[in-house]
Amino acid sequence: MRFGPGPRIAVAALLRVCLVLPADGSIAAETPTPPAAAACRDCHGAGGEGNAAGGIPRLAGQSAGYLEQELVDYSSGNRTNPIMQKFAKALSERDRKTVSEYFASLATPYDVARSTANAAELSRGRELAQQGSEAKRVQACDNCHGPDGAGVPHAAPFLAGQYSGYVASALHSFLNGSRKNDPGQLMTSVVERLDDADIAAVADYFSSLASND
Ligand code: HEC
Ligand code: HEC
Repeated sequence: MRFGPGPRIAVAALLRVCLVLPADGSIAAETPTPPAAAACRDCHGAGGEGNAAGGIPRLAGQSAGYLEQELVDYSSGNRTNPIMQKFAKALSERDRKTVSEYFASLATPYDVARSTANAAELSRGRELAQQGSEAKRVQACDNCHGPDGAGVPHAAPFLAGQYSGYVASALHSFLNGSRKNDPGQLMTSVVERLDDADIAAVADYFSSLASND
């Protein structure tokens, strides 16, 4: 399990205090922050931008329906993660909806300069995303996740601009049993055909894209 309530989170919180807070003025939300979202900001950031080093996903601009469903799944144990299960269970049904709509409404800028992948890796990632792999019988990610991984509300979350480490970890979670919220085994059947190099390539490719529309 990659995420635990260990030093990573402490480091993420520290980084936020040292580096992120001074920049907050530039990401003022149009929607007032609902009280239930206050605790989320400690990890997911004041603008819902997440934190690459902490393995904390970006929530800003993700569809409200997807975010709410994930909170329901953490709460029921359909998706396991000790930190998020605790926070999701503490929310009322109404709060889950409110915080999801809040983070969905944020148009926080992306941090585009984070990819360290080389050109060959990015090109392999792009191929999997846009065309899939006939040899591995894997269909293109973008078929479900939308053009350039921009997301399709009510169908699949955005991947564009999501942090590479988080995307890779999320892919593994469909196989290692920590994520059972995969209706029709759509993601499981994709991930079981990818090897670690494919996963790294496609995760780096999506994290190198930044699109919020
Ligand atoms: C202590 C840090 C921490 C706090 C506080 C926190 N989160 Fe998270 N959140 C995480 C981590 C780490 C993950 C990734 C967990 C995983 O891999 O399943 C995550 C994942 C999520 C996801 C899944 C995103 C996706 O793309 O699937 C949602 C939704 C979410 N958090 C919402 C919230 C909300 C709403 C709150 C406040 C009520 C909150 N989080 C508070 C650390 C935190
Ligand atoms: C047949 C449709 C389909 C295809 C093809 C597909 N996905 Fe998905 N994917 C989904 C759905 C639906 C979900 C949401 C599952 C849930 O409810 O949590 C998802 C979730 C994910 C997540 C979790 C996102 C998050 O924020 O936690 C990642 C990462 C992901 N897909 C990556 C990929 C990659 C990479 C590919 C291509 C190699 C791919 N997907 C191909 C349908 C698909």
